[in-house]
Amino acid sequence: MTFPIGGTPPLSPSDASVTSDTQLPPPALTKPPLFPDPGALDEVLYDYLRRSDRMGWSAYDLVDADQLERLARVDRLNEAQRAAVKTVLYVEDHLPGYLSEYLRVMTDPEQPDEQQIVNRQALHYTFRWVAEEDRHAHVLEMYLTKTGLCPKAELDADMLRERQTAYVFPYQNIEQGFIYLALQEKATHLYYRALAKDVDEPLLKSILTKMGADEASHGAFFYDLLIKSNRGDLDALARKVSAVANDFKMPVQSNLLNYRRQLLNMMRAAPSYKHPDVFADMMRAVERAAGRYDGESLQLITPDLGPFAKGG
Ligand SMILES: [Fe+2]
Ligand SMILES: [Fe+2]
Repeated sequence: MTFPIGGTPPLSPSDASVTSDTQLPPPALTKPPLFPDPGALDEVLYDYLRRSDRMGWSAYDLVDADQLERLARVDRLNEAQRAAVKTVLYVEDHLPGYLSEYLRVMTDPEQPDEQQIVNRQALHYTFRWVAEEDRHAHVLEMYLTKTGLCPKAELDADMLRERQTAYVFPYQNIEQGFIYLALQEKATHLYYRALAKDVDEPLLKSILTKMGADEASHGAFFYDLLIKSNRGDLDALARKVSAVANDFKMPVQSNLLNYRRQLLNMMRAAPSYKHPDVFADMMRAVERAAGRYDGESLQLITPDLGPFAKGG
């Protein structure tokens, strides 16, 4: 997932209009800082894109005739697990809605020039992210149809129906949006990891493992960007994470039909998934970053990816 970088930045105190009878000198006009900071974005982009270059995989390889023959044991999936795979596909398949919303905001010509420049820079993330999320929808669609778990015509109709609700980004504040996306990517990472562990179907396990690694990488992008942007005050970041996490829900909660039933199925299919772990994971990352601050050498370590060595 990603976030429409842009929008109206919060006013700094010096922007507030002052009305007073006494003739105080006008406050100095200072521009609010750009968010995200272009320098931090550059660094985080480098890590994410290089990581992504190395992690490339093809949906066609994962669900080819040989893999289907050798690995697939779909009779070992219970009803809840079959339904959960479909729900995961519906979530991933909301991508066209996400993309239109983000492109609309990120290419907004009304934004100040500086913001448009940083928005263009951030699109390097968005375009790669879109390719990776689309790969998730594609591989699950191929898996469900090629294994015979769901006839193509039925799946097409289901996906069309589930895509009908428009996606609206739930946050106005840019930084809160980033925190939300960090949590959302982490939630999908932890859920795919739990489902891979809890199903007894080797082909689905291998697909979920590949997808989970992508989600971990997306989560790391947001973790890194938030931590680098708050490097002066990680306590403040921890408080902001708590505030957003209090209201956090699973991705596209308001977009799926019969969401409660689908969510219950997802939880039944992967009992290893613990929703509070999502918040705990992000707080641990902030904690670790605080412990690792050492002059210029900030390095966020995520449990699944480890540090990324430049030039390595
Ligand atoms: Fe995904
Ligand atoms: Fe993702």
